[in-house]
Amino acid sequence: MRLISLLGLPFVAALATAAVPFKGCQHKVKESIHGPPHGWSRHTPAPKHHMLQLKIALPQPKFPELEQHLWEVSDPDHPRYGAHLSKGETDALMAPHPETLDIVNEWLASYGLTEESLIRSSANDWVTIRVPVSLAEEMLDTSYHVYKHAETGESIVRTTSYSLPEILHDHVDLIQPTTMFARFKTFKSTLHWSNEAQSQVSSTSGGTITGPAGNQVDASCNSSITISCLKQLYNSVDYTTSATNGNKLGLTGYLGQYANNMDLQQFYQLENPSAYGSNYTFVSINGGLNNQSYEAAGIEANLDTQFGFGLTWPTPGTFYSTAGEPPFDPDMLTPTDTNEPYSYWLDYVLSRPMLPQTISTSYGDDEQTVPFTYASRVCAGMAVLGARGVSILFSSGDSGVGDGDPDPATQICYSNDGLNVTKFLPAFPAACPYVTTVGATVNIPETAVSFSGGGFSNYFVRPAYQEVAVSEYLEKLAPGTYEGLFTPYGRAYPDVSAQGVNFAVIYQGKEVPVDGTSCSSPTFASFISMLNDARLNASKSPLGFLNPFLYSTGYTALNDITMGHNPGCGTQGFNATTGWDPVSGLGTPNFEKLLGLVLSMS
Ligand SMILES: *[C@@H]1O[C@H](CO)[C@@H](O)[C@H](O)[C@H]1NC(C)=O
Ligand SMILES: *[C@@H]1O[C@H](CO)[C@@H](O)[C@H](O)[C@H]1NC(C)=O
Ligand SMILES: *[C@@H]1O[C@H](CO)[C@@H](O)[C@H](O)[C@H]1NC(C)=O
Ligand SMILES: *[C@@H]1O[C@H](CO)[C@@H](O)[C@H](O)[C@H]1NC(C)=O
Ligand SMILES: *[C@@H]1O[C@H](CO)[C@@H](O)[C@H](O)[C@H]1NC(C)=O
Ligand SMILES: *[C@@H]1O[C@H](CO)[C@@H](O)[C@H](O)[C@H]1NC(C)=O
Repeated sequence: MRLISLLGLPFVAALATAAVPFKGCQHKVKESIHGPPHGWSRHTPAPKHHMLQLKIALPQPKFPELEQHLWEVSDPDHPRYGAHLSKGETDALMAPHPETLDIVNEWLASYGLTEESLIRSSANDWVTIRVPVSLAEEMLDTSYHVYKHAETGESIVRTTSYSLPEILHDHVDLIQPTTMFARFKTFKSTLHWSNEAQSQVSSTSGGTITGPAGNQVDASCNSSITISCLKQLYNSVDYTTSATNGNKLGLTGYLGQYANNMDLQQFYQLENPSAYGSNYTFVSINGGLNNQSYEAAGIEANLDTQFGFGLTWPTPGTFYSTAGEPPFDPDMLTPTDTNEPYSYWLDYVLSRPMLPQTISTSYGDDEQTVPFTYASRVCAGMAVLGARGVSILFSSGDSGVGDGDPDPATQICYSNDGLNVTKFLPAFPAACPYVTTVGATVNIPETAVSFSGGGFSNYFVRPAYQEVAVSEYLEKLAPGTYEGLFTPYGRAYPDVSAQGVNFAVIYQGKEVPVDGTSCSSPTFASFISMLNDARLNASKSPLGFLNPFLYSTGYTALNDITMGHNPGCGTQGFNATTGWDPVSGLGTPNFEKLLGLVLSMS
């Protein structure tokens, strides 16, 4: 965890205590990038009165201690396994040094930003201010511009560099939005849209075939994935969850993705009639809306809620809608422009004393579009959730080893570090070492899908839990394979996988087949939620952060995927192999086997 522990910056003793002449103080560059990432170009200077919601992250000097707790409570062989921390305990371990609070307060006050105008996170480790571009430019000694995205036409207000008085450098981890251009798109590779009403799922031809667990499954599951198929394939047909044992499943929605309730009920009627009429809890974060008009339905949100809540019913569900501000329209003078969802989501969930035990997210972007400082802080937030006992799952991305362009031949796999060299492009948060990342498979026998995102982080080093599994994979590669294209000592992903093609989703009243690791993450998360259900019923702790368990013993209860590869950047990508690989991870779930394992653990 070398890179991550950079967060625990050595505390600088020589602090000024009296009034600091910030305004006269020499500014020094805090963060800069080599121009905007591919696709973005600089347009006009940002309007001076445009309002920015700036989030300031203060260092967390006790993070290494928090991380130590995470490893202990997540390791099934450790005596403290399952002894998850409370909100009060993690808040104390995330808190900034009091002197950091003082000096940052003084700096803000010197611009007239007093306590009443500040929004603080529960652990005081983030401060949010609302300021016009003109003031932000003065405070950060920078110039904001409007940047436009060539393909989508979106506009955002950003800069490529910002500065702070030197005295503040050790007291501020990052300020955003400044240099972050990530779009955090949904990981849904394709939607085979058809205007014809599709044939009903259940009407597909009969017969059975042998599934990955060795049992007989409907032959139709080889071409269209339903709730019933997933329960058959992953061996949970006989398991019933409880509505009342305290277990919950959380799903996240960003970027104005709304889960349509009429579509959900229609899906239940078709795929899980016993769930028909049931509902979930909607949570709005930072003004996240819940537009129930049919036209506003989001495929991603529909997919997540239909399969996540459908598979785990009657487990109570929570859907978090975090405002993805509408793209900034330079002519409309949109009042705010945040477009940075994860820190808002984390602020909210980390402020709650009780959390769902399992949470799935299917959004992300190229790691290099996310500044390292921001990636580290958001990733650290995931570690906190793990320490609190939450299993956090993310989709691995839908571009194989490449960049999002579905045509591997035209992918732009260039580094944005000023060198402009060809590189595989890992995804974030998929490559965060504190989350469980889910790749995709297709067909029976299960094969890794070509779009399944996988590879090695350029930001985070390989965590100890995957040392053996990943080293074994790397040793199998022919010497020199893809040299220079990936960072072999980086955090490797995905961790696991699940089906991700031809999910029968109801969208605007019609059944549409959807593909993507967006299908795989809520699927794997649902089986984890069922395992948490069983553990709660047996008066055991929830599983919490899964990876130490998955890599030490959990893999023995997964179906190893050994076929398929994930092309990108003009290469064939990595191969699925026996054991862990950067296409399918450790494999897909065998619920009965996993159940035996997790009930045998303390
Ligand atoms: C779990 O506990 C609930 C009561 O809290 C009970 O109704 C249910 O049958 C139990 N489920 C299992 C699988 O043991
Ligand atoms: C289900 O919950 C959502 C969100 O809380 C709410 O908007 C909707 O009206 C509810 N639907 C039904 C049928 O109760
Ligand atoms: C909901 O979405 C529809 C369709 O996109 C749009 O016309 C309507 O204005 C939206 N409603 C609200 C309250 O945003
Ligand atoms: C990077 O190199 C590629 C190929 O030589 C070129 O097409 C592209 O414009 C370069 N990008 C930048 C930002 O220099
Ligand atoms: C499932 O479909 C794939 C692709 O069409 C095919 O190759 C495979 O043989 C099928 N599996 C079975 C068990 O029929
Ligand atoms: C993947 O397997 C193919 C066929 O066996 C082989 O030619 C190729 O070198 C392998 N690629 C990697 C990256 O291991």
